[in-house]
Amino acid sequence: MMLLKRGRLLLLLKLTVVLGSVWMFSLLIRPKTGWDPTYIFRYGWLEYTDADGGPEKVCNCSAILQGEREALLQAKLLTITKAFRKSVHIPDEYYINATQDCRIFKLSRKYLLFPLSQEEEDFPLAYSMVVHHKNFERLLRAIYAPQNIYCIHVDKKAAASVLSAIKAITSCFPNVFMVSKAVSVVYSAWPRVQADLNCMADLYNASTKWKYFINLCGQDFPLKTNLEIVRALRSLKGGNSLESEKLPGEKRWRVTVAHEIVDGKIQVLLLLRKVKQPPPFNLPILSGNAYIVVNRGYIHSVLKDNRILALIEWAKDTYSPDEFLWATIQRIPGVPGSTRPSPKYDITDINAIARMVKWQWHEGSQGSLEAAYPECQGSHVRAICVYGAGDLQWMLEQHHLFANKFDTDTDPIAVYCLERYLREKALPTRSLFKIA
Ligand SMILES: *[C@@H]1O[C@H](CO)[C@@H](O)[C@H](O)[C@H]1NC(C)=O
Ligand SMILES: *[C@@H]1O[C@H](CO)[C@@H](O)[C@H](O)[C@H]1NC(C)=O
Ligand SMILES: *[C@@H]1O[C@H](CO)[C@@H](O)[C@H](O)[C@H]1NC(C)=O
Repeated sequence: MMLLKRGRLLLLLKLTVVLGSVWMFSLLIRPKTGWDPTYIFRYGWLEYTDADGGPEKVCNCSAILQGEREALLQAKLLTITKAFRKSVHIPDEYYINATQDCRIFKLSRKYLLFPLSQEEEDFPLAYSMVVHHKNFERLLRAIYAPQNIYCIHVDKKAAASVLSAIKAITSCFPNVFMVSKAVSVVYSAWPRVQADLNCMADLYNASTKWKYFINLCGQDFPLKTNLEIVRALRSLKGGNSLESEKLPGEKRWRVTVAHEIVDGKIQVLLLLRKVKQPPPFNLPILSGNAYIVVNRGYIHSVLKDNRILALIEWAKDTYSPDEFLWATIQRIPGVPGSTRPSPKYDITDINAIARMVKWQWHEGSQGSLEAAYPECQGSHVRAICVYGAGDLQWMLEQHHLFANKFDTDTDPIAVYCLERYLREKALPTRSLFKIA
């Protein structure tokens, strides 16, 4: 009862967005014991509440995050209801309109506009976000901090409305910018890497302050707060964290036969069946994935090291270069934060902190010896789990900074509960309305 009433009143207040009055109001509704005026003034209004919209009124995130069966069943039922999915969808037009007044947009969407701690302020991060999707804003809001910088790459093929919505959002933030050169992304082909490279160059040039680089796509979502990310990165002590292991024999063709892009799709140069030269400097090719967590020096090497520039040229006609390029660079001697090429230093996606991905063939029930993770509670796309609310509990116990894939169209509750959990955790003092 109390929660609902507070929500409705806050909705009215939101229009005024005057901090002072929110503060006064918070004082009035807080119980006599346990409140802290500093907390309420600085942070209380930044909590996500049911007045912010979203499925709050019909699903219990704290029960979902504890894996309670009934709450998960209800979430599942809601998720397959079209009307429900429609009711929580935020259309592009909303963003285009709402960002006309950036100040109100940032306040009403509750962006964190000041660093939450000195520790975070002293450790700025650089993000490359290769997106094609309107869900971009939910992701940006979840990782946004004013000391970080963000380079946004929108696929050249994206619909005009998606591009305008994303441009409108980025124009509200001095530290969020569109990539200087956008490319047309082709699945499994070179342009996917080029998009990240273009952002790397822009980020490297835009600021000398950031310490680590993280790349994301539109279907990623964080599992940790900015402070937790900063601490995890500091504990790497200058190292990088990404999958880098022996290239399996069945993937060798990807780098031994030349490919080309025809009609927006990658294919083997069939007629010529051109066999590629070995990699420059006889660099050993390692296997990994598209998502990395690397220090600034690694990015410097990618942009300037002649061995890597040659490797990049060589890789342009390979299949899925994103799945070996970063992993290979991570084992080149002299690259900051790299490890030796010896297989003793191989690291899997599960051991790296960059990304949690659930591949269908590694899923299984507890007790199964081969299973790497519990079964997907959402649905599969190209054999990768698109998380459902039921995946959250296990996922939040893992060390990964981000997980892939989330999709607010197929399961809005998973993202909703996750963003709420993270915001709650990020605010320096625990609030009255605890979640998980
Ligand atoms: C939500 O679930 C938690 C944990 O089971 C429970 O303590 C709480 O009362 C529930 N809240 C509502 C509004 O049902
Ligand atoms: C656009 O935003 C203004 C306030 O910024 C609001 O009053 C108006 O209703 C919005 N229009 C649409 C179509 O959403
Ligand atoms: C870096 O940015 C400056 C402007 O701040 C620009 O003049 C220069 O061309 C950029 N360099 C590169 C390599 O992009």
